[in-house]
Amino acid sequence: MAERRLQGGIANAGQVVRDGEHVLRPASEHSASVHAYLRAVRRAGFEGAPWPVGIEEDGRERLEFIDGDVPLSPYPAWSQSDNALASIATLLRDLHEAARDFDPRRHGWNEALADPAGGTLVCHNDVEPSNVVFRDGLAVALIDFEFAAPGRPIYDLAQLARLCVPIEDDFDQARIGWRPADRPARLRLVADAYGLDEAGRKILLAAMVDALDRVEAAARGRGVPVSKALGGIEKYDRRRRWWREHEAAFASALR
Ligand SMILES: Nc1ncnc2c1ncn2[C@@H]1O[C@H](COP(=O)(O)OP(=O)(O)O)[C@@H](O)[C@H]1O
Ligand SMILES: [Mg+2]
Repeated sequence: MAERRLQGGIANAGQVVRDGEHVLRPASEHSASVHAYLRAVRRAGFEGAPWPVGIEEDGRERLEFIDGDVPLSPYPAWSQSDNALASIATLLRDLHEAARDFDPRRHGWNEALADPAGGTLVCHNDVEPSNVVFRDGLAVALIDFEFAAPGRPIYDLAQLARLCVPIEDDFDQARIGWRPADRPARLRLVADAYGLDEAGRKILLAAMVDALDRVEAAARGRGVPVSKALGGIEKYDRRRRWWREHEAAFASALR
């Protein structure tokens, strides 16, 4: 069967193709580590991630294709439902549980979006709607593990919240296609669906600040202009301002 280019994608836009039952995407120096991790979580009984088939001689990785719907920006209404959000958080909890016995120490990882506080559990670090496969409006699998790296699970959940609640200035929310919603209530839903305990709720907000800092520093550090279509570099100032104005409402939603 011929290779067919898949729609969407951000870092690898236009380079991810479907080849029958498989997906081919550019590999990196960390792909072997990611494959070891994916094999471990699948063997631990987690089915919501692609089985890694291998790394090809042409420099691409081959993964299982997971059938379903992947929402692309502007995100369709069904992907913005509370049930969709809760199902993503539940899936992340199951991934974290399945990863508990995987030891990351003998592997190298892409640290670009990794938890600045460090940690021992390999996290996805980039759970946004376009990296989730849905069926009937509910999340069934996570894809795009290229930023997987060791960290604290609370940081992975904070990244999910930042990207899926989302934490974004009104202008940028509209740009990506998010509709107005009660975002503090959506953050509470993330914590509830993940099954976050009291101690976790107390540090979730601080982990979200870590995540906001981390992605902004990564974007500024790259020294490559952020295109207007992606909001320009000014979006980080807008996001920061919006967060300062709304942080208290998120804090009280978690109490
Ligand atoms: N294993 C997979 N199963 C199903 N669809 C996939 C899979 N991997 C990638 N895709 C599709 O290809 C798109 C781009 O792949 P992704 O790995 O997210 O690339 P990028 O790193 O550019 O974001 C995804 O949004 C999804 O639609
Ligand atoms: Mg992606």
